[in-house]
Amino acid sequence: METLEHLFHNNKKWADSITQQDPSFFQRLSNLQKPEILWIGCSDSRVPANEIIDLAPGEVFVHRNIANVVVHSDLNCLSVIQYAVEVLKIKHIIVCGHYGCGGIEASLNDQDHGLIDNWLGHIKDVSRLHQAELSELTGKEKVHRLCELNVVEQVNHVSDTTSVKNAWKNGEELYIHGWIYNIENGILHDLMSSPKSS
Ligand code: CO
Repeated sequence: METLEHLFHNNKKWADSITQQDPSFFQRLSNLQKPEILWIGCSDSRVPANEIIDLAPGEVFVHRNIANVVVHSDLNCLSVIQYAVEVLKIKHIIVCGHYGCGGIEASLNDQDHGLIDNWLGHIKDVSRLHQAELSELTGKEKVHRLCELNVVEQVNHVSDTTSVKNAWKNGEELYIHGWIYNIENGILHDLMSSPKSS
């Protein structure tokens, strides 16, 4: 059986190096997590939340799914948002998409992808909302733009959740950000910076 021994080896090296720099790091974290950021991003292996923004364990609460979609009835994502906002009292929610997103690309063609087509339907909805603009574009440019528009729409969905609306109603400091990541050079771009707050 393949036991992935090298990953345990990597893990030990990683934990040792952190402990060497900061002997009480894990002990401290085990008592409390107090992140200020909730990251909602794509599952794509090239877009790992902590690494991209260079934050240590404990500093970012993470939810990832295919094409960073926030669906009004997705209990998984809604529970993450509720816990982050109401219990952790995070200050920033970042919806981060990325260029070259396979989910976005797949939503633009009519091939049969099986079960995942039900999920990609949410991105098709975004396409329909922006049909006029997208119909002017083709190929990579079209995918590129839909990656951006999808972030904008998902930011709207986050803003419409009961957890976020209640936080704003209660005068809490909570900002929503729409970012996009370029997998070709590792650089993040701000598409829309937190205009919404109470
Ligand atoms: Co993706």
